[in-house]
Amino acid sequence: MNNRRNFIKKTAIAGVGLAALPNLTFGIGHGKDTLKLAFIGVGLRGTNHLNNALNRSDVLITAICDIDPNRISLALDKISKAGKSKPQVFGANEYDYKNLLALKEVDAVIISTPWLWHTRMAKDAMLAGKYTGLEVSAANTLEECWDLVNTHEQTGTHLMLLENVNYRRDVLAVLNMVKQNVFGELLHFRCGYQHDLRFVMLNDGKTAYGKGVEFGEKGISESVWRTQHSVLRNADVYPTHGVGPIAAMCDINRGNRFVSLTSHATKSRGMHNYIVEHGGENHPNAKVNFKMGDVITSTIETANGETIIVTHDVHLPRPYSLGFRVQGTKGLWEKDGDRIHVEGISKPHRWDDSKAWLEKYDHPLWQKYGEHATGAGHGGMDFFVLQAFVESAKQNIAPPMDAYDAAAWSAITPLSELSIENNGEPQDFPDFTRGMWVKKKPYNWIKDSY
Ligand SMILES: NC(=O)c1ccc[n+]([C@@H]2O[C@H](COP(=O)([O-])OP(=O)(O)OC[C@H]3O[C@@H](n4cnc5c(N)ncnc54)[C@H](O)[C@@H]3O)[C@@H](O)[C@H]2O)c1
Repeated sequence: MNNRRNFIKKTAIAGVGLAALPNLTFGIGHGKDTLKLAFIGVGLRGTNHLNNALNRSDVLITAICDIDPNRISLALDKISKAGKSKPQVFGANEYDYKNLLALKEVDAVIISTPWLWHTRMAKDAMLAGKYTGLEVSAANTLEECWDLVNTHEQTGTHLMLLENVNYRRDVLAVLNMVKQNVFGELLHFRCGYQHDLRFVMLNDGKTAYGKGVEFGEKGISESVWRTQHSVLRNADVYPTHGVGPIAAMCDINRGNRFVSLTSHATKSRGMHNYIVEHGGENHPNAKVNFKMGDVITSTIETANGETIIVTHDVHLPRPYSLGFRVQGTKGLWEKDGDRIHVEGISKPHRWDDSKAWLEKYDHPLWQKYGEHATGAGHGGMDFFVLQAFVESAKQNIAPPMDAYDAAAWSAITPLSELSIENNGEPQDFPDFTRGMWVKKKPYNWIKDSY
């Protein structure tokens, strides 16, 4: 109660945003009142987390790190405009983040850097005893997946994968329906990352979503690093937005696990065609050979007898969709078409518009915080993922999406690469829990605190 009184007092002083929220539970329970939080990487994503953290009265931003001085200036400006004190600044070189991790004024850290930095930074953060929040995906190779698990076990420090799609309003409503057995016993899922990223992975080096067909050193933001993965790897390099929500629905690593996977890739055309269309056929990048197939389809089998089809599709013109389908013995939800069918309630062989169903099963978190969350980025889910991180870190407890989840979900990347290389040969998932998945109880996602 004392914590709660303090929180309300602080919120009243802050006088913005959260003060308007009903029945706030921040700070209730054991643990710290205020989290001393640092950021490694304040590019587009890190700045989004920073903005949301600045809205919270239970977070003190004590340090930031980025090798790009422009991103540091922008972050400092935001912090100052929010009336908060200036954090310590790092970024003199690519390894300066280690000096940030040595600070005793840092309890927790959010890492939003390019993928090849994720595991090494997360490992170093756990070794330094900092509660670690890591952007998606977590790891690039099976070795890195094991590194995350082993370092977590060696240090006892928690790692949370910051998968925001697990908090999307429709996803949480469907999770609520799953947990209330509306769809019966689960059998089949579809999901993926289907997002036309050509204008992000190729730009003019001045603005992230600008025109242009440059990447690497001549690019800016994600084109600096993400595009190279499409050049070098024929794999699903971004599986967690799709598979994270499904893993929560079928209790992966908590009574269930991913067992094996097969993957197939189409030929690669989208990036080359875009470069020729926007830069001309004589542009040097028109000669680049993109190894990654435009549409990559993986099928995962789970220990409990479900299948999950995961798609990676970022090089072609198409409207955005994560393509969710959740199917059980009594019915199914399909995001594409926004439709639901439940036997005995829906007309036989007919779809219902999903709207009324999703409203009826709206998740308690969205009922409570929905109005406030909506402005937080990505339709509101970014508010909830930060909330879960901050609350878990303040209490120093296991997060909803932990090191084992980070490893199992990210393992899709190297396993899909191996399968594609070997004509769709099945690849076994390592059991990152070393057998503990059998006994581990499902995480309680259906609550209104975080
Ligand atoms: N969850 C989501 O919805 C979502 C959305 C966008 C991006 N992301 C993820 O967030 C991460 C960052 O993406 P982004 O779009 O912000 O990319 P970005 O390129 O805009 O930002 C990355 C930042 O990291 C900095 N950086 C690189 N190496 C560094 C080092 N050694 N030390 C310190 N700083 C370093 C760069 O200077 C840059 O500012 C990626 O993993 C991406 O997949 C997630």
